[in-house]
Amino acid sequence: MVQLTLPKNSVIGKGKTWPKPDGAKKTKAFRVYRYSPEQGSNPRWDTYHVDTSKCGPMVLDVLLYIKNKIDPTLAFRRSCREGVCGSCAMNIGGHNSIACTKGWDEVAGRTITIAPLPSLPVVRDLIPDLTNFYAQHAYVQPFLKTDTPAPEREWKQTPEDREQLDGLYECILCACCSTSCPSYWWNGDKYLGPAALLQAYRWLIDSRDEATGERLDDLEDPFKLYRCHTIMNCAQVCPKGLNPAKAIANVKHMMVERVV
Ligand code: SF4
Ligand code: SF4
Ligand code: FES
Repeated sequence: MVQLTLPKNSVIGKGKTWPKPDGAKKTKAFRVYRYSPEQGSNPRWDTYHVDTSKCGPMVLDVLLYIKNKIDPTLAFRRSCREGVCGSCAMNIGGHNSIACTKGWDEVAGRTITIAPLPSLPVVRDLIPDLTNFYAQHAYVQPFLKTDTPAPEREWKQTPEDREQLDGLYECILCACCSTSCPSYWWNGDKYLGPAALLQAYRWLIDSRDEATGERLDDLEDPFKLYRCHTIMNCAQVCPKGLNPAKAIANVKHMMVERVV
């Protein structure tokens, strides 16, 4: 039978509203998703008031302010703070983004909601479980495959062949695209999702790679590739400005071309 309501243990409770910092003249409210598996209780929304005169401009600065000055138990991932590692991806004000390059003043609303990336199991607070996401990345074999003996120094490409990889190699594997894709929400166990498929295309069109047929065979399946319905959420949220939907369309085109 179809379940039309959330299971009881998924309903998000009200949580705690933390007091405003002493002496703060200008504050901004942030509603943050909290979940601690060992407590055995439902997730909750905690509200924090951040002194904006003492906090940097990005959402990651807000999270660090909360952790350092209000509530050290808040858990989230981050590493580079430069939009390079993809670790700080989360849902900010209803849109997936990376916290270190998203200014909190770019997000509309008196209170800004911060939640983990949607549709993935939550390890703790803002930390999603990316096991399946990484397995899908590994599935597309994101490395050069060739039978030609390796050259002494390097595999060369013409500038034109190298240009083909622009808009693809810049992916930081943040998972913002896949977790904003409705097809991925419903079939994330079988559909590879936009991030893995963008990588698949990156290697399919690499002039040095010699496994094109094998790579296309691996995607020939009703779910892995063809569950993309060109809804375009992926291209809208990518923090690096990439277009996974276009890459997926190109892979589909390669599939058609090889049978005609
Ligand atoms: S275009 Fe395809 S991959 Fe992108 S969000 Fe839509 S269904 Fe998902
Ligand atoms: S394509 Fe963009 S949104 Fe998707 S994983 Fe790569 S960088 Fe992140
Ligand atoms: S901390 Fe690396 S992308 Fe945000």
